[in-house]
Amino acid sequence: MKQLLIGVDIGTSGTKTVIFDTEGNALQSVLVEYGMSQPKNGWAEQDPEDWWKATYTSISAAMEKLGADRSAVAGIGLSGQMHGLVLLDACDRVIRPSIIWCDQRTGEECRIINSDLGQTIISETANEALTGFTAAKLKWVQRHEPENWAKTAKIMLPKDYVRYRLTGEFATEVSDGSGMQLMNVPSRSWSKVMLDYFGIKDGMLGHMYESCEATGKLTAEAAALCGLEPGVVVAGGAGDQAASAIGNGIVKSGVASITLGTSGVVFVHSDDVHIDPAGRVNTFCHAVPGCWHVMGCTQGAGLSFKWLRDTILPELAASLAAEGKIVNKALDEIAAEVPAGSRGLIFMPYLMGERSPHPDPDARGVFFGLSSMHTRAEMIRATLEGVAYSLYDNGCAVESMGIPMSDICISGGGANSRLWTQIIADTYGRPVSKTNSAESGALGVAILAGCAAGIYSSVPQACADIVRRTSVTEPDADKTPVYRRYYDLYVGLYESLKGRFKELAKISEN
Ligand code: XUL
Repeated sequence: MKQLLIGVDIGTSGTKTVIFDTEGNALQSVLVEYGMSQPKNGWAEQDPEDWWKATYTSISAAMEKLGADRSAVAGIGLSGQMHGLVLLDACDRVIRPSIIWCDQRTGEECRIINSDLGQTIISETANEALTGFTAAKLKWVQRHEPENWAKTAKIMLPKDYVRYRLTGEFATEVSDGSGMQLMNVPSRSWSKVMLDYFGIKDGMLGHMYESCEATGKLTAEAAALCGLEPGVVVAGGAGDQAASAIGNGIVKSGVASITLGTSGVVFVHSDDVHIDPAGRVNTFCHAVPGCWHVMGCTQGAGLSFKWLRDTILPELAASLAAEGKIVNKALDEIAAEVPAGSRGLIFMPYLMGERSPHPDPDARGVFFGLSSMHTRAEMIRATLEGVAYSLYDNGCAVESMGIPMSDICISGGGANSRLWTQIIADTYGRPVSKTNSAESGALGVAILAGCAAGIYSSVPQACADIVRRTSVTEPDADKTPVYRRYYDLYVGLYESLKGRFKELAKISEN
């Protein structure tokens, strides 16, 4: 009987379960969606129970659709949205809705943590305090909901809550753990300094594993809900970024990925720990044992395109759809009619504030250089180019740390756009390639599960056997100099505007 591996990706809009064979072929997948509540402007919360229900319903539905023998399942890997704060009381009840990664309420808490800890937070956690990360969310609960903090017995991440329900084991792993800012990232273990600062007592954080280690086994109760046999190994898994990187084979020095999802991520493997003292990009433990990764995240990548399409140009999108066209492809064609540089229009994609290379929750989007000759076509192209400039800005920050990015692979929904992929290749002035992994996050954690179950000898070996490059987009040598001139201007624009963004935030608060 052929063995099967299950990858579960607990995302922001839903949880997707994908069942793979041991050659990495996706055999079946099921997505179960859920909502997000935004009780105030900039807040974002989810109910951990929704993740758990979506996990067992998607696993059991995928198993049923595949009609596979349940005893074929050799391992489960968990991936998912990082940084969310889940608090349980002494009876293992969820205390409050999870404050998730994109919640921006913690600007003040970050200022407090950074001023209390200074460079120590960078040397311990490899990053300065950021609104998206878990530590700032914990500080917010301590300051604004002391009654909830007083009840807290366990602190965990979204996918680790699901692990707890699947196996009864209270555990995490190094890649997602790094995004809590409670770890000493260089030594891949909890940081005594950070735990003392937050008053976190023994037993409040789970056991720390490497991502490819077995962390527990499916309980009989969970197995019945999932339609699986009890005792299946659950691997450490990984935060969504490290998981997709494994699925795309980003497991060697010099190899990098660009992921165009809601946010846009530049992810670079590193054999050694490199920390940016300026805090422009983030360093985390990688899901490859003994390795790290450096990551730059521009908050509004696909989000900027979606905003333009759905909020600014909904009539255009509707009329293209009514003509029977694929809207995103048709918008690409409109943008392709405009020359590189969008006739002098530059877009800054800071619609949701920014994380990298400018950690600035007050930054906001800008169209710079608008003229009466510009049309929707320039606005569409400028949006794609602005995201590419931000991704290049992140790539430059990574390379300035001495980490090479010689081989770039592109993935995520935005990579379906040939124009956007070409603009990124042209801006970087380097080829970008795609891999055969359509479900890179789920595949990444299925690979980790295969390691934990003893099917693969190591993460890099499994990637070498499974992940293949499929297509390459070469840069257009004539366009790179054009984009670089606009890019230089783009970089200067943030410097000119950062003070103005702060003033704007003060005015619009009142
Ligand atoms: C990574 C990050 C996002 C979230 C949601 O640092 O914030 O990737 O995990 O996908």
